[in-house]
Amino acid sequence: MVSDGTFIVLMGPPGGGKGTQARMLKARLGLSHLSTGEMLREAGRSGTKLGLEAKKLIDDGKLVSDEISIALISERLDEPCVSNGFILDGFPRTVSQAESLENMLADKGVVLNVVIQIQVPDEIIVERIIGRFSCSKCGACYHDKFLTTKVSGVCDVCGSTEFSRRVDDNENTVKARLKIYRDKTTPVLPFYEKKGLLLCVDGTRSIDEIMRKVEKILGV
Ligand code: AP5
Ligand code: MG
Repeated sequence: MVSDGTFIVLMGPPGGGKGTQARMLKARLGLSHLSTGEMLREAGRSGTKLGLEAKKLIDDGKLVSDEISIALISERLDEPCVSNGFILDGFPRTVSQAESLENMLADKGVVLNVVIQIQVPDEIIVERIIGRFSCSKCGACYHDKFLTTKVSGVCDVCGSTEFSRRVDDNENTVKARLKIYRDKTTPVLPFYEKKGLLLCVDGTRSIDEIMRKVEKILGV
């Protein structure tokens, strides 16, 4: 891989809008969207031993091991399409993952352009997460209040009428996820701040306002 693409890490709390912004950036810039949460949920649906173990941890709001998440990302970074650039969503989530990512990217000659932290206070997070639902067919993500389908009960993207909610999207699990975010993931922020890579955006703004801010940061 050569480092002539755009390489972004999106950080932020559960329900902070990482996936929403990453999908929009992917559509806008043609970058690969690498979400370890999505990869792990896919592994859970496939029913492999690893997938089922990960599903249990995810449903309880715990992190899967660094070893597993690093292996998942490492595999995806080897795919040719990733050389155009990527948006990492939900990785790295621990300092150990950030250090491994640094080594993996150095081996490939890739330099991160920016790490964007979407900042959202805890009191907003619960409402964001409880109201989230996705199309069961194409995965398009919506919200009961903040991002509804244009026609009630019909996916804007693929027309499906089947939707689902994540098992970990409940109030108790969200509290566990927020605690883990504070304890394990916020220490990653100074790691990138020291490298001059960290920029913050106000995640309480509307989805479009945040996108415009991110585009400004990226100069696109
Ligand atoms: P993951 O899937 O990454 O979950 P998360 O980090 O908890 O984040 P979410 O996906 O819940 O939120 P988001 O920031 O993407 O918000 P979204 O855009 O959907 O990981 C799940 C689990 O997998 C983890 O708990 C862990 O167990 C495991 N895992 C994953 N990566 C791992 C790793 N690296 N190491 C170890 N374990 C790992 O937005 C939320 C809702 O709000 C949506 O409905 C959206 O429409 C709405 N919304 C978005 N933006 C706005 C806005 N600006 N205004 C109003 N509403 C908005
Ligand atoms: Mg997400």
